[in-house]
Amino acid sequence: MENTEIKRLQSELIAEIDAAKDLKTLNEIRVKALGKAGAITALSKGMRDLPAEERPVFGAQINQLRGAVEESLQNKLNALEQENLLRQLEEEKVDITEPAKDNKLGSVHPIPDVIDRLTDICVDMGFSVVEGPEIESDYYNFEAMNIPKNHPSRDMQDTFFFTDEILLRSQTSAVQAREMETRKPPFKIVCPGKTYRNDSDATHSPVFHQMEGLVVDENISMADLKSMLTILMRRLFGEDTTIRFRPSFFPFTEPSIEVDVSCPSCHGKGCSTCKGTGMLELLGAGIVNPKVLEMSGIDSKKYRGFAFGFGLDRTSMILNGINNIRNLYRNDVRFLEQMK
Ligand code: DAH
Repeated sequence: MENTEIKRLQSELIAEIDAAKDLKTLNEIRVKALGKAGAITALSKGMRDLPAEERPVFGAQINQLRGAVEESLQNKLNALEQENLLRQLEEEKVDITEPAKDNKLGSVHPIPDVIDRLTDICVDMGFSVVEGPEIESDYYNFEAMNIPKNHPSRDMQDTFFFTDEILLRSQTSAVQAREMETRKPPFKIVCPGKTYRNDSDATHSPVFHQMEGLVVDENISMADLKSMLTILMRRLFGEDTTIRFRPSFFPFTEPSIEVDVSCPSCHGKGCSTCKGTGMLELLGAGIVNPKVLEMSGIDSKKYRGFAFGFGLDRTSMILNGINNIRNLYRNDVRFLEQMK
């Protein structure tokens, strides 16, 4: 082969290498030139057909060609790799001046929030926090609480029944008998949770929340109930809170009382929250009726108890200045954000 032809092959290959746009094409050129069946390899093989005196010159020309093509391939490889790197850096570029995405921070819903606050205070006072089923038997919801079948006091709680015996609990008081059956006095429990009644207006929702408290020990008196509730209410609503006992009736307590707290909005002066009275009705309570203790297997000669139960929705509404209970269940993010 003439030297000029070798030169032409060289410039053709180098032009192709220069024009290669990616590593795949470059590799194809390498195979085409230097591979087993490649053009340069074929030339080298042809050397043996030449007369011995021409071989050194031809060999040198082929070596020069191979060297030039290899160098050119290497340079192009470096250039393409560099290009790829720059493209990658460009594509993966982080613009640190770009405004951050608007990630909204969630917050605790007012109901779990009030449950957390109350149970924290109660745990500090030595109470255990318990739970009970929301689908409850007539026995635990009513009969064990001294509310027999067909008793008029059942009318106080407009109950959702599944069958004559199975219902959605209308009061967390249903856990009282369950706990008394399994625990040995003395004990102190609170049970926050969902309760259900067929009732719906600005201050009543068919699903609502209560927290029940029960203390059973020897020598329990109204004074224990009063001091415990005073501490609880002061820690929840503020140290200047006062409480007031009014006589009332519940089948499961004797005597029974209703407990009012001084209005935390106006500190007892009278405002729209407390409808000018300075006080808010908050809970029912009393000394556990000995019949209730006996039904659950507790010796009422030896032990006495006090119990209390209150609405958590109402408590949360007072704490957060919410005037319609439905706001607690609509899950409107604009409303919930104000509760943070
Ligand atoms: N369970 C009552 C209700 O839902 C509230 C209540 C009153 C609970 C007095 C008590 C209690 O434990 O002693 O209206």
